[in-house]
Amino acid sequence: MKIRTLLGSAAILAVTAASALAEGETVGFAQIGSESGWRAAETTLTKQQAEERGIDLRFSDAQQKQENQIAAIRSFIAQGVDAILLAPVVATGWDSVLEEAQEAEIPVVLLDRQVDSSDELYLTAVGSNLVHEGEVAGEWLVNAVGDEECRIVELQGTTGSTPAIDRKTGFENAIEGHDNMEIVRSQTGDFTRAQGKEVMESFLQAENGGKDICALYAHNDDMAVGAIQAIKEAGLAPGEDILVVSIDAVPDIFKAMADGEANATVELTPNMAGPAFDVLEAYWADGTAPEKFIQTESRLFTQDDDPTGEYEARKGLGY
Ligand code: AHR
Repeated sequence: MKIRTLLGSAAILAVTAASALAEGETVGFAQIGSESGWRAAETTLTKQQAEERGIDLRFSDAQQKQENQIAAIRSFIAQGVDAILLAPVVATGWDSVLEEAQEAEIPVVLLDRQVDSSDELYLTAVGSNLVHEGEVAGEWLVNAVGDEECRIVELQGTTGSTPAIDRKTGFENAIEGHDNMEIVRSQTGDFTRAQGKEVMESFLQAENGGKDICALYAHNDDMAVGAIQAIKEAGLAPGEDILVVSIDAVPDIFKAMADGEANATVELTPNMAGPAFDVLEAYWADGTAPEKFIQTESRLFTQDDDPTGEYEARKGLGY
């Protein structure tokens, strides 16, 4: 592995600010795309973090295609970057390109999603406990419905991505043993608002115009926002006739919560780059190897948690 040392001049040793450790380093960011408000915020924050630390960030938007991400990583390797950030669109199929990065002695940090490759092929992964997020969402719904019969529809994230797989598992864990609750329909909406709306329309049609649906669980807020529109167009009241719980905590879901049209969301911080650059700075400085997983917090927000204030606080943050 290429390990940069900052041994040398007194001037360098005098520099204590963490940001100086990254000054002039070049980082390639193989981003998934801009499928959601959360993703847009992650991109914005990564660019801001890089600028603040004097990092030369080379950004690639893969339009949600794994082959584009692989091509971007190969291009970053050819450019001889000092590190690569990768938000992997799906979990499988990364071994070869990660091996190529390792052979080139370029550390790779995973952001917000995981891969099924050996963890020896990347430096660390920054992200949330995705199963736990699904559990938090499910537990909220369990408490909200009590003993009532509840037919649930689920909008899954991108097929094959770890948030789609793990958030489904977590939610199922939470409702397990509650015989009054059942997921009656479950389909991918690819984490997008447009597909969330489209798939919800088909759920509503298939479920007696929506009258047989008690709750929607969406793997992200953008799909929930699209689905809320579909519910309204079907003549039902989202948040009342159909409970809505989702994940991310983007401004638009707080707006919907303030309007009584969504009920709960689980926060996923879009600031994955901050911890990623922190570990890279330590690594570049003296080869410090971080833990293989750096976990971010997941917090539940409901209509009782000042959704208007949360909307105001977040609306200018790049979502
Ligand atoms: O990997 C994180 C997920 O990806 C976010 O929850 C979703 O909005 C995004 O597209």
